[in-house]
Amino acid sequence: MSTTRLHNGTVKMKTPSGKAHYGFDAPGVMRGLLAGGLGGLVLGIAAALLATGWLRAAGVGLAAVAGVPLILGLSMVVYGLIGKQRMRDHMLGLIDWRGDERVLDIGTGRGLLLIGAAKRLGRGGQATGIDIWRAEDLTDNSLDRLAENVGAERVENAVTLLTADARKLPFPDASFDVVLSLYCIHNIEGRADQDAALAEIVRVLKPGGRALIGEWLPTHRYAGVFRTAGLTVRGSRTHFATALTLMWLVDAEKPALITQPERKRAHV
Ligand SMILES: C[S@@+](CC[C@H](N)C(=O)[O-])C[C@H]1O[C@@H](n2cnc3c(N)ncnc32)[C@H](O)[C@@H]1O
Repeated sequence: MSTTRLHNGTVKMKTPSGKAHYGFDAPGVMRGLLAGGLGGLVLGIAAALLATGWLRAAGVGLAAVAGVPLILGLSMVVYGLIGKQRMRDHMLGLIDWRGDERVLDIGTGRGLLLIGAAKRLGRGGQATGIDIWRAEDLTDNSLDRLAENVGAERVENAVTLLTADARKLPFPDASFDVVLSLYCIHNIEGRADQDAALAEIVRVLKPGGRALIGEWLPTHRYAGVFRTAGLTVRGSRTHFATALTLMWLVDAEKPALITQPERKRAHV
């Protein structure tokens, strides 16, 4: 039996239930792409084989076009099975871990990045996962399912779980050394609200802290928001080969505070 500490002080008892599973992202979209693609392919092939004239040509065209949603849907399945673990390992591998970091995973879902980060922490380190648990964004998306994964991976002493909105984080300024988020910000409707979430990331980062934000769309706009807020953008590029699906990552750093002796040395 294991326990998971929740932010409000309650403790959940969980029996380790084997290996954690982190779910399939956007299950409705994934099913729609697979069903639409497969349906189009079957119809198209049937028309191409059985019909003649323009109907046959239309069937060939339909079969070719249906390949696009089918491949996208299949890539989402592959991502859920192996791509997201590969992307997690890549993202966490970018940090030079000391072990005592305070880490925040925004839109943690079933804890993919949260649990991965917690495993890299030692004494003094703590990983916090926040989410609002939207069913349409992830299969079996719930605090209970996350607590189960935390128990299964035996990281309960290193994590705090909290229901909170990315647009208004319940933490003081400069609380975290590392802020992580994967496939979350695009789910927030409207550019203004997305920018509010990005501003919150900047606010809660400590000076010298790192933000790693993964998305299925190009992250250049997020990089621009971070630059305007004074962060140094270390990179913003695609990671298709790692995730095996549409994936972009922006990696940004908040400038460290200059100490008084350093100021004197630099004559600032
Ligand atoms: C596609 S899932 C990804 C979950 C997890 N990061 C992963 O990679 O497995 C997106 C997550 O973002 C969460 N989310 C969406 N809008 C949010 C918001 N405004 N604040 C916090 N979490 C949000 C959803 O509930 C969901 O768990």
